Amino acid sequence: MNEKLKHIRESFLLGIAKVSNLIGLDELEQKFFSRKSGEFTLLMKELKNFSDIQKKEFGAAANNLKNELEAMISAKKNDLKLKESENLAEKESVDVTQSKLPKKEAGHLHPITIIQNKLEDLFTSMGFQIEDGPELESDYYNFTAVNIPEDHPARDMQDTFYIKDNPGWVMRTHTSSMQVRAMQKGALPMRVIIPGRVFRNESTDARHEHTFYQIEGFVIDESVSFADMKGVLETVAKYLYGDKTKIRLRPKFYPFVEPGVNGEVSCFLCQGKGCRVCKHTGWLEIFGAGMIHPNVLREGKIDPEKYQGFAFGFGLDRLVMLKYGIEDVRLFQSGDIRFLNQF
Ligand code: FA5
Repeated sequence: MNEKLKHIRESFLLGIAKVSNLIGLDELEQKFFSRKSGEFTLLMKELKNFSDIQKKEFGAAANNLKNELEAMISAKKNDLKLKESENLAEKESVDVTQSKLPKKEAGHLHPITIIQNKLEDLFTSMGFQIEDGPELESDYYNFTAVNIPEDHPARDMQDTFYIKDNPGWVMRTHTSSMQVRAMQKGALPMRVIIPGRVFRNESTDARHEHTFYQIEGFVIDESVSFADMKGVLETVAKYLYGDKTKIRLRPKFYPFVEPGVNGEVSCFLCQGKGCRVCKHTGWLEIFGAGMIHPNVLREGKIDPEKYQGFAFGFGLDRLVMLKYGIEDVRLFQSGDIRFLNQF
């Protein structure tokens, strides 16, 4: 019988050494002490067949073993409980010394906004004020006030989106719609820029969008010349594209200026030699400009005999395309995160 007790003890010691959690410990306890089939319980059931002396002798040894094994189970149980609560605390705790927090996606400015901000800084440093105006504009301010009367063919150059239920209103086709609005405020002399979104009923391609951005600017004073205008436009081109940049002005008809010019900058990529970006001309068209037409000054309640002014309108999308070498204007509003993440 003592051999059997010895075997149970060795088998228990091997088993408990392998136990690594409370469930395993419970299984071990059942294996030896379950009331129906525990190995120790079954051995004790054999006692009834023994003589009284044997019972006494074996019973004492069995009892000692039972106490020893139960003490081991209890110690192991405490140990495992402690370990499991430590693991749980580790999982739930916040490590305040942790230096790198998980990376969060942060947004950033759109490339058009980046260049708009840069230009606003430049113009304010030259004494210009920044104005804002409505995108849904009256036919009057968008066309008539800037010397484009109804039925004038110049309206065809800037076809737009009309408002069905309100025929007098259009989505503005250019920021020049703000010229007369600003003049009517009446503070002379004036140096103003108006950045904003404009709309045209346009078949889109790599250089044309139906919705794009412009920066309008104008200066009105008692002695303002075409040379002043050229100086300002050259300053903008050099600021954006570097000191070697040249500008070229060629006559162009705009009803609201006289004379009017189409403004180009020497290609930033080939320095005017001719390449893919400038379509081998060496020049890139980015703005319209000219001396403000007397009719427009009159519409703004300004005396053209006393005051002159120049005005210009940059295509902001095109400025940004040239700055970053972007080949398709439609990318700006594509919402393509792979494109936007480059800026
Ligand atoms: C005008 O919009 C005039 N209001 C500019 C002006 C202002 C002239 C003051 C004289 C005095 P134009 O249609 O050329 O002009 O447009 C000006 C610039 O906007 C162009 O040089 C070009 O850079 C940009 N632009 C024109 N149409 C589009 C288009 N569909 N998509 C993207 N950019 C365009």
